[in-house]
Amino acid sequence: MSVHIKSPSGEASVEISLHGATLLSWVLSGKELIFLSKLANASNPTSGKGIRGGIPIVFPNFGPWECGPQHGFARGKVWTCVQNTGHCVVLELTSDEETKNIWNYDFKLTYTVTLNGHSLETSLSVDNLGTEAFDFTTLLHTYLRVPAVQNIRISGLENIGFHDSLTKKYIEGIDGDIQGINENVDRVYANTPNIHLLKFDETHIKVEKTNLPDTVLWNPWSDKAKGMNDFGDDEYLEMVCIEAGKVAERQFLEPSENWQCKQVLTA
Ligand code: BG6
Repeated sequence: MSVHIKSPSGEASVEISLHGATLLSWVLSGKELIFLSKLANASNPTSGKGIRGGIPIVFPNFGPWECGPQHGFARGKVWTCVQNTGHCVVLELTSDEETKNIWNYDFKLTYTVTLNGHSLETSLSVDNLGTEAFDFTTLLHTYLRVPAVQNIRISGLENIGFHDSLTKKYIEGIDGDIQGINENVDRVYANTPNIHLLKFDETHIKVEKTNLPDTVLWNPWSDKAKGMNDFGDDEYLEMVCIEAGKVAERQFLEPSENWQCKQVLTA
């Protein structure tokens, strides 16, 4: 149930599950850069549920949703591979009876993953195929693998206030890089710069986003990790989610209209 691509030089490879079009692995020069929980059961995922780790696609709703599952249905559906050139793969998801029972709109999602040298490009395109306008929020829920989350640095979020999803309060931004994560963090930063940099050891990972104005930063930390049955108790130390999204304001799409966004990770 998964597809593989390699960079033209062969030094990078990617695995993507058709389940949710979830990118499961990105290996560059022998090093895995994406976090996938050892309890994720990615080879036999549960229908309707997301895979814990990788890059799940959140659509058509970020967070709790009155119509259906948290973060929408796209991450729990089986997508179709429509093209694989060896270093670029195109996956599609179109509305069906099940999605229309939850959210009664006709849509097509096209997800293109391209490996170029040290860059991993993921772009998502949304088409409104119906006769009614709809609105959505969306996000690339990227789980990055880190050796020790307490020692990471993240730049690109300095001096930007955020909505703290834990306390439901707005918190003013602070100067300088985020230096280490030492607790449960669940933040929505609206209107962020298009480039963030994650740094650990000798590694720098650049997150570059296009038409994704917002950034979610998440780490469940110890207590929440223990409460998740698809996440190891200590795995919170090995990951951070830097999630590029369109979440602070909903995106409207008229019939026949198309909307596109992109994230490029460069290591
Ligand atoms: C983040 C949210 O994007 O995803 C968190 O900000 C949420 O609130 C996390 O806990 C994981 O969500 P889920 O549905 O995959 O457990």
